[in-house]
Amino acid sequence: MSLKNIAVIGAGTMGNGIAHVFAQSGFSVTLIDVNSAQLEKAVQTIGRNLDRQVSKGSLTEEQKTGTLQRLTTQTDLAAGVANASLVVEAATENTELKLKIFQQLDAAAPADAILATNTSSISITRIASVTKRPELVIGMHFMNPVPVMKLVEIINGYATSKEVTATITELSKQLGKVPCVVNDYPGFIANKILMPMINEAICSLYEGIAGVEAIDSIMKLGMAHPMGPLQLADFIGLDVCLSILQVLHQGFGNPKYAPCPLLVNMVAAGKLGVKSGEGFYTYT
Ligand code: CAA
Repeated sequence: MSLKNIAVIGAGTMGNGIAHVFAQSGFSVTLIDVNSAQLEKAVQTIGRNLDRQVSKGSLTEEQKTGTLQRLTTQTDLAAGVANASLVVEAATENTELKLKIFQQLDAAAPADAILATNTSSISITRIASVTKRPELVIGMHFMNPVPVMKLVEIINGYATSKEVTATITELSKQLGKVPCVVNDYPGFIANKILMPMINEAICSLYEGIAGVEAIDSIMKLGMAHPMGPLQLADFIGLDVCLSILQVLHQGFGNPKYAPCPLLVNMVAAGKLGVKSGEGFYTYT
C-alpha cells in the first residue's frame, strides 16, 4: 500500500506534532480541526518548532519551507479526508467523540483509506467497531513532543489486517521513528508501564515519604529519566494521567491501578499541570 495524502484530525499538541513530522518527511498533509483559531495556532507552533530545528542545524531553510508548503488546513472533516490514503486521528481523548469521528471518517474517507488513531488508551477494537472497515483501523500512538520522540507504538485491534500493520510499520520508519507493535489491551504497553510509575510517585508524595523535588531528582539522577515522574505528569496533563489510570483500573479490574486520591483531588481542583499553569510545579 502506498500512502501519499495524509489527513490529521485535531490541531492540539499531538495533532500539530504529527502533522509536522509527516510534512517534514515529504507527505502532503491536511490538518483538520473544527476550530480555525486552533488551526492557526498549530501552524504557528509548527513554524516555531521548525525554526528551532533550523537554528540547531538539523534542518535547512529550504526543508523548512518545503515542510510548510506541504501543509494545508481545513475545518470541514469530510472535505479534508476526501483524498486521504491515511487519516491519523488525534482529537481530544474522549471515547464518545472518537467514536463519532470514526463514523464520520468511515463515511467520508476513500473506502481503502487506513484510519489510524493516536489514542493513548481507548480500545482500538472498540473504535474500529463503529466503522465498516475494522481491518483498516489501527493505533498509531506518537509520544510528546512528537518531532523529538523516536517511538511510534503501533496497536493492532482485534480485526486489524497484517497488511495494514506492515504498512504502518514501514511508514513509521519513513518518518524516522522506531515502530513497536503491540496488541490492544488497556493502556497498550507505553501507558500500562508509565502510568503506574507516575501514580506511585504521586502516592509517595501523598504519603509524605518525600517532596516533589526529591522524588523527581531521584528518578532523574538515579534512573537517567529526562524528566522526573511528577514533572512528566504535569507535561502530559494530570487529567490525561487520571483518565488513563481509570482505563487501566476498569479494564484489568486490578486495585494496583487505582488512581492516587491526591491525583483525583488535583484534577477536581483544576490543577492539570503545564496546560493550566499549575500542577506539581507552577508555570508562568
Ligand atoms: N519540536 C521540535 N524539536 C523540539 C521540540 C519540539 N516540540 N521540543 C524539544 N525539541 C528539541 C530541541 O530543539 C532539542 O534539540 P537538540 O537535541 O537538537 O538540541 C531537544 O529537543 C531537547 O530539547 P531542549 O534542549 O529544549 O530540552 P530538554 O533537553 O530538556 O528536552 C524533552 C526536552 C525532549 C521534552 C525531554 O525533557 C524529554 O524527553 N522528556 C520526556 C518526554 C516524554 O517522556 N514524553 C512521552 C510522554 S508520554 C506520551 O506522550 C504519551 C502518552 O500517551 C501519555
